[in-house]
Amino acid sequence: MKIPSYQQNLLSDTQRLTAFYEAINEKSRGIVYDLGTGSGVFSSWASPLASFVYAVEKDHPTAKFAQKNLKSFKNITIKINDARNITFNEKADLIICEMMDTALIDEEQVPVLNSVRKYLKKNGDIIPCAVFNGLEAIYLKNNHPIYQEDESAQYELRSKLVIYDTIDFKKHIKENVKYQITIPINTAGTVSGIKITTFTLLTPQLICGPTPMLNPPLLIPTNQLNMKKGENIIVNLEYTMGGGLDTLRASIKRFP
Ligand SMILES: C[S@@+](CC[C@H](N)C(=O)[O-])C[C@H]1O[C@@H](n2cnc3c(N)ncnc32)[C@H](O)[C@@H]1O
Repeated sequence: MKIPSYQQNLLSDTQRLTAFYEAINEKSRGIVYDLGTGSGVFSSWASPLASFVYAVEKDHPTAKFAQKNLKSFKNITIKINDARNITFNEKADLIICEMMDTALIDEEQVPVLNSVRKYLKKNGDIIPCAVFNGLEAIYLKNNHPIYQEDESAQYELRSKLVIYDTIDFKKHIKENVKYQITIPINTAGTVSGIKITTFTLLTPQLICGPTPMLNPPLLIPTNQLNMKKGENIIVNLEYTMGGGLDTLRASIKRFP
């Protein structure tokens, strides 16, 4: 069977895998849901420590790949469905969910967790448990949103990083968000965009920055302002978590 290339890229990102391996090793017990199982790698790690693992994957070819990889594990069952459509018969001690994207915009992490969280036991855990989103002012040459890993991305920093939101996966998350963020400019020049960086908290003690396949920084164009060092801008930023990059709106203005 041919390995789906996206899953192959996910499996090649050792920094991402190491962070998840540590967290899964620490938190796996009892009933585990692995939402968006992909290749099934996280289920295979949870299995020896859990009584039962429900591995959920909505993409059929990917689910078939997981079935092949996990066939020797007796305490894993694969459910081929959108995680939001599943009625689970037993509550989870641990939910693993890696449908992450920078600022949680372009994948279904938030709508899926908002739907499945009711099945988590009171003292249960979610991996990852939270993310922090940070923002920097930049001069951006590209005129459309682009991930930093893209070779054509060209930008220069104009500020330090400001953390503008923390999202706790155990609590209900508002999907449509609007922010007004004040950013002090520390390098004079044109500001024509913002850079969003997402930091992932796997467990309360384990943080992972962006990796090639886990939340690579996102560069977003805005209107242009010529700024001096020491001046401030206000960034108006809105998007829908799980709604995709088309929901992004970003603009800047001078402050005060
Ligand atoms: C980023 S990949 C992670 C795969 C694997 N867990 C890993 O980390 O290597 C996300 C996976 O979630 C699946 N997925 C996305 N949305 C889903 C949904 N609503 N329900 C079930 N699976 C979903 C995708 O098809 C994809 O295989």
